[in-house]
Amino acid sequence: MILPLLLLMGIALIPASAQTVPTPNPQLASKEVNARVEALLKKMTLEEKVGQLVQYSAGYATGPGASNLHYDDLVSKGQLGSMLNVVGAEATNHYQHIAVEKSRLHIPIIFGQDVIHGHRTTFPVPLALAASWDPAAIELVARTGAVEARADGLAWVFSPMVDIARDPRWGRIVESAGEDPYLGSVLARAWVKGYQQGDLSKPDSVAVSVKHFAAYGAAIAGRDYNAVDMGEITLRQVYLEPYRAAVEAGAATVMSSFNSINGIPATANRFLLTQILRKEWGFDGFVVSDWGAVAELKNHSIGDGPTVARKALEAGVDMDMEGNLYSTTIAEQVQAGKIPESVVDEAARRVLRVKFALGLFDHPYTEAGPAYDATPERRAVARKVAEETLVLLKNDAVEGVGTLLPISQSIAKAKKVALIGPMADNQQEMLGAWAVTGDPKYAVTLKAALTERLGDRLLYAEGCELLSGEDANVLKRVSFGGPVIADQHLPIPDDAKSIAEAVETAKKADVAIVALGEPTNWLEGEAGSRAHLGFTGAQQKLLEAVVATGKPVILVVLAGRPLELKWAAEHVPAILEAWSPGVEAGHAVANVLFGDVNPSGKLPSSFPRAVGQEPLYYAQLPTGRPAHGDLSHMPSNAAEKFVSRYVDEENSALFPFGWGLSYTRFSYAAPTISRAEVPVQEILASRKAPVTTVGVDVRNTGSVAGTEVVQLYIRNTAASVEQPVRELKGFARVTLAPGESKHVEFSLGFDELHFYNAEMQRTVEPTTYKIWVGGSSLASAETELKIIE
Ligand code: BGC
Repeated sequence: MILPLLLLMGIALIPASAQTVPTPNPQLASKEVNARVEALLKKMTLEEKVGQLVQYSAGYATGPGASNLHYDDLVSKGQLGSMLNVVGAEATNHYQHIAVEKSRLHIPIIFGQDVIHGHRTTFPVPLALAASWDPAAIELVARTGAVEARADGLAWVFSPMVDIARDPRWGRIVESAGEDPYLGSVLARAWVKGYQQGDLSKPDSVAVSVKHFAAYGAAIAGRDYNAVDMGEITLRQVYLEPYRAAVEAGAATVMSSFNSINGIPATANRFLLTQILRKEWGFDGFVVSDWGAVAELKNHSIGDGPTVARKALEAGVDMDMEGNLYSTTIAEQVQAGKIPESVVDEAARRVLRVKFALGLFDHPYTEAGPAYDATPERRAVARKVAEETLVLLKNDAVEGVGTLLPISQSIAKAKKVALIGPMADNQQEMLGAWAVTGDPKYAVTLKAALTERLGDRLLYAEGCELLSGEDANVLKRVSFGGPVIADQHLPIPDDAKSIAEAVETAKKADVAIVALGEPTNWLEGEAGSRAHLGFTGAQQKLLEAVVATGKPVILVVLAGRPLELKWAAEHVPAILEAWSPGVEAGHAVANVLFGDVNPSGKLPSSFPRAVGQEPLYYAQLPTGRPAHGDLSHMPSNAAEKFVSRYVDEENSALFPFGWGLSYTRFSYAAPTISRAEVPVQEILASRKAPVTTVGVDVRNTGSVAGTEVVQLYIRNTAASVEQPVRELKGFARVTLAPGESKHVEFSLGFDELHFYNAEMQRTVEPTTYKIWVGGSSLASAETELKIIE
């Protein structure tokens, strides 16, 4: 089932307009499902209805402190509708038998889990997957995860995370698709399709939970769980777009977020959860809170326990994840007349709808099946996907050697290669931040993969640890649920000694591959915000020492966020961004380093020159005093000073959004447009139909085959509300043989051209759009589209 899907992965053309799936889930709205729900609801007591709104973790904790209750008892009384972190046929069947055989109305439990980048088979982290710009690959990852999750008794995954992330200080950027609403929306649809297959009742479909609703990624200063404050236009046009895409693709559930937004916590936010989600988007599924988010409303100072539970429920949070407040306060408040029973009915109705649509009433149990851990077929898929996610950031020629990548045949066959760094041989680190069920013992490190190729011509030195004695405070803060991690590192590593050993190793080799990053489990993901974006521990010192040997250096960066790479970009000739590549990490990276695979990944997130530039993203709004633009109204000396810029750093990204090199080169002809003028009424009248097509010839001018991600950007130059200086509105992966040229077309219509006006309506107005096509957000091949009265 998986391998045939691989064939889909080479899709060349993705017309921008073909991405939209506008209808909410018809299964949840179906007469049959709703008739069964209503019949059951009539039989339920108030306590049983509330029970459907309660979720506990009976396994490990994926948040602070799991409840420790008599789950068997709660389930048998119909007081527990859902569980998370209970994994495997045996464990889930245990509770399911109690629910179905012992509870009064035999209502099955829905088991959920964080299946984020694969389940048993660990794929690259979501930010890496976004760097593939390949919806078919993401669909495949979701499909594989769904099959493995279902075999483990899980019918519900807490994925995809579609929060726009424009600030890499925020550790959860690793779970996102990066900074862009268009890319994020295309990929959100792919995730939902892969998990749900457009049919929840299939035995290997799982319900998704689109999270975290909403705008969690815009936490002020990049600090996790922090407040969010933004205008409604940005909220709708940028941050809500991927959630809308996921809901339109049929997402069965949504998870509310921890943050407040414009002063109202998202988990008690009627505007988000009822007005936008249900009334505007027609969402028929249910909303689950994030872990403990209902109880945490007390810390947002909007009331005591019963009050916040009522506010959350009435705002539209149907299920309380590990909050323990719905279970203890809702029924009482209904009996006291403080909450209408119809509110509880509606929430229970939404939960039951999803359970019926999934077929849980008809097939509640999971057959104990084969272990899916790391089968060769799945590893092959994981490797192929990982290869697509790797981004070649830099590959400058070195005097007398040429470009270092791909590693030349002479080096590969005859010479010695030094592999240095704490990321070179660490299985756990290859899996990434959210590999809950992935087993590190299956992960292939770079050292293992390079040894397969080079044997004893590979020289290895760890160089330093990921965190060193200098990080004592960091080490204390990241300890979670066990001994303080700092204690495990005693005695404090002797960085000077290990760096000196690494330098000696480099000196013996003809080329040095240095693999650096940051600890994925400790410093990335949830509660992994950082104020500094450099390599952790003594890694920067290690890099500088190896570069100082004068040996040619290739830097491989393994991290789930854009790190600050300014020094490296100035001093290291070749840099490969490898993220956290998953179970087949070493093979995927080695295949690209040695040129068996030509890299094709493109950045989904801008890489800063300095952390002070954050939040840094390409689709910025214009300013009256641009650093590069028309300043003819100013005297020239003033134009030097009074502009929107940093006095001590460039404005631009070190590596911009959409950036990624190849071992070949691509050239772009001037783009053409099928209609350069379109009446505004035509676009407004035919909302779904494309009105014009931009075409471009792309040629492979190098000597090896390669895949280019062709990107289309627009700028609306005269709208009633100011628009970003560039916005991505189409992309296509195109594979070209040496010398080959292909014509790529992008359709444009209302979906691509619209914006939100001051009345919060999506609209198109008479204007001129500048349009660029190219291989990154710096694309320069240009055309124009006029929208006339
Ligand atoms: C995270 C969610 C996750 C949930 C359940 C929370 O702490 O924010 O992303 O789905 O835990 O594990």
